[in-house]
Amino acid sequence: MSSTIVSPAAPKIDFKAIQQLMAPTMKQVDQKIIQELNSDVVLINQIGLHIINSGGKRLRPMLVALSAYASGYEGEDHTTLAAVIEFIHTATLLHDDVVDESDMRRGDETANAIWGNAASVLVGDFLHSRSFEMMVSIKNMRVMEILSHATNAIAEGEVLQLLNVNNPDTNEAQYIEVIKRKTAKLFEAGTRLGAVLADSDALTEQALAAYGLHLGNAFQIMDDMLDYTADETELGKNLGDDLAEGKPTLPLIHAMHHGTEKQAHFIKETIQQGNRAAYPDVLSIIQSAGSLDYTAKFADMEAQKAINNLSSLPNSDYKTAMEQLALFAIQRGY
Ligand code: IPE
Ligand code: IPE
Ligand code: MG
Ligand code: MG
Repeated sequence: MSSTIVSPAAPKIDFKAIQQLMAPTMKQVDQKIIQELNSDVVLINQIGLHIINSGGKRLRPMLVALSAYASGYEGEDHTTLAAVIEFIHTATLLHDDVVDESDMRRGDETANAIWGNAASVLVGDFLHSRSFEMMVSIKNMRVMEILSHATNAIAEGEVLQLLNVNNPDTNEAQYIEVIKRKTAKLFEAGTRLGAVLADSDALTEQALAAYGLHLGNAFQIMDDMLDYTADETELGKNLGDDLAEGKPTLPLIHAMHHGTEKQAHFIKETIQQGNRAAYPDVLSIIQSAGSLDYTAKFADMEAQKAINNLSSLPNSDYKTAMEQLALFAIQRGY
């Protein structure tokens, strides 16, 4: 296995081309999503449509379908499971924006900013429970096992993260444990489901699951970097939300251990207080302490691990798209 660092040598990924490859499938997935959002409770439709129609990359459902196709699946259930994964993702976003007190997402006001915290939490619960109704309809015990395990891990990850907020002693291992559970486990479940639908052997299933897990780690590490470095309009979220919350993410953890004593002290205090106003100073510290480079390299290595796990799959456009999506996860600006 190669241990090459992906960037900066890696070519720029054409995400639009992958979206085009998957357009017919994603159209079906979106139809399923709209159909399943339906409720006679008006506020559920309003909030559900607000968040679903505001876009989103649909990366997770795309990966469910790609994993199924790359494993040779020719059935229909991947559409439902892709929608299930997007519902779970959307429910966690509704809850996450309440917890993080965020008011921008997908280039629009968050549901909590428009309708308030209570409505967001409750509609998040609706999406969660609707996703369970949908997954049960597949009538496959493995599918239910995988998804119930993943949703449980996400909840653990979010609570674990809450415990680390305002705590500058959070170390890298604790950080990785949080992102694995809150983000990577859902990617892992999605790509594992593709293999399970295709009745893949245990080794293939494990490889596709590991691909999803590492891609998910890379994705969240990059997200945490983008919270400092992105173009706000392109990202569609406010920069500095993590700092305002006092979240000890990887760039800050690195700077506390590798910056000067003065820099480390400043970061430590900012994490303890949670201070958006410190953003320009923190940005210049994580730049000069090499923390952004370190974070990018960490994400690169995770993306490379993801790609390595695809090596035994037969070549196909789908496999290539999966390799490219692992790179997109770390090249993206949104
Ligand atoms: C945002 O996920 C939440 C994280 C795990 C970082 P995405 O960046 O995939 O959000 P959308 O669905 O494209 O808006
Ligand atoms: C992702 O973490 C949270 C979930 C897994 C729902 P963030 O809090 O960093 O996600 P964004 O930045 O709000 O999208
Ligand atoms: Mg958030
Ligand atoms: Mg974030």
